[in-house]
Amino acid sequence: MLSRRRLLRSGLGAAAAFAVLRGSAPPLQARELGAPISAATGRRVSVGLVAEERSTALPAFAGQTLPLWTYAEGAWPPVIRLSLGDRLTAELANRLPRTEEHTSIHWHGIRLPNAQDGVPYLVQPPVPPGERFTYDFAPPDTGTFFFHSHCNTMEQLGRGLVGVLIVEGDTTEPYDADEVVLLHDWHVDAGAAAFNPFFTLRGAGRAGTYAPLRSANGAVDPIMPLPAGGDCRLRLINADPTRIMTVAADGAPAAIIAVDGIAIPPLPLTRWDLGPAMRLDIVLRAPQPNAVAAIYDVSTSDRARLIRFVGNEPARQRGAFNPAPLRAGVIPPPDLRRAERIRFRLGATEAGKGLFAVAGSGPTIGTLCLASSTFWSINGRSWPDRDHAKLPPPLATLRSGRTYVFRITNPTAFTHPIHFHGHTFTMLSADRVRRPPHFTDTVLVHPQETVDVAFVADNPGDWMLHCHVIEHQETGMMGYVRVA
Ligand code: C2O
Ligand code: CU
Repeated sequence: MLSRRRLLRSGLGAAAAFAVLRGSAPPLQARELGAPISAATGRRVSVGLVAEERSTALPAFAGQTLPLWTYAEGAWPPVIRLSLGDRLTAELANRLPRTEEHTSIHWHGIRLPNAQDGVPYLVQPPVPPGERFTYDFAPPDTGTFFFHSHCNTMEQLGRGLVGVLIVEGDTTEPYDADEVVLLHDWHVDAGAAAFNPFFTLRGAGRAGTYAPLRSANGAVDPIMPLPAGGDCRLRLINADPTRIMTVAADGAPAAIIAVDGIAIPPLPLTRWDLGPAMRLDIVLRAPQPNAVAAIYDVSTSDRARLIRFVGNEPARQRGAFNPAPLRAGVIPPPDLRRAERIRFRLGATEAGKGLFAVAGSGPTIGTLCLASSTFWSINGRSWPDRDHAKLPPPLATLRSGRTYVFRITNPTAFTHPIHFHGHTFTMLSADRVRRPPHFTDTVLVHPQETVDVAFVADNPGDWMLHCHVIEHQETGMMGYVRVA
């Protein structure tokens, strides 16, 4: 188990003892995080991202072609790899097919300047069809991140407007492989050539509209070859707008090495709840030649296999499983003794409660006369309308440089992955599903749960705080916090 000394060294002093989520795995020999490297390559990486409809036959579509909206020709999802210290210049061109279909890019989890954050109306005008917008920033953290549209997100993300952003420079020893596993479901029935609706009232008032076709890297339960016996880094990204998964490995030992991009000392992977937008870096000991290991979503009783791994020759001789740790993150440590506490209460509106009440009985929703299309709220307030055009006042105004503890309470019947832009939380406590110390930009708040997260408000601007079940976000569970 993790020693207190090692947790303190890694900047995670909050909890010396914790219960691993559920299940068990043999403990790993304790290994300390490496020291962070300093960030100045002076390099600039330029990419063009053209949001466009591209008819695409992903392997998951079994021969069908679907009208995806993507950022680039070729492989889906696109992957941008930077080294820590690089500057990214990304020119977005909007060539989406509808006249009103504006767009923007949010760089999820990146602690970047507010003007680069990609939230339409709040920090930039939305980019209309035919126009361009250039993002320019140097990510301050290494790790696994991703980017996605922040406009009409249910549909734009649902059709594929997503990409991976990896910032290298966090390894202490090379792993035997480094692979992305991007999880995303598609709103299409088997064999169909058109998408189902991306947004439904029934879903919006409940846990969201789960899409029936599940995929890893655009394929159903694919087989990924890995060097047999090697310690392979897998970057799991839940890029689905809706589904909360619980990931577990079978057939091979595995350890968590980072959460939402930021390192933690290697921790055996038993089960980990991975909500929309959350990332988990793991090291998996690849199986022997021709043996197979797999990652499952075990959130339901009929566990779903997401991806398989097969060992490729030549086999590595790595000895007992004891994966190399990453380098420590550089998230500013919160000053908990002088922190200011702010409460956020997640809620359902009267319309949302009414919808929930009838949703169980099915077809009556179409006849329900909804007074409002906001079903969810934060501190009793809903962001009006489904896009961001009408700005409400901020939920809170924070003083730059101070530490804040957000206490988020969820009295609703559904789990909400709450994302805060521009900062990274230090996880302090959760009173229902205990979690080991880690950093996160998107924290799951289970029904009837209260979660405490802390951070230093060191990034001035207006930052979204919202549920990443996008139908909840789009029906009111979003707001913003001003750091001034
Ligand atoms: Cu990944 Cu405001 O979102
Ligand atoms: Cu939610």
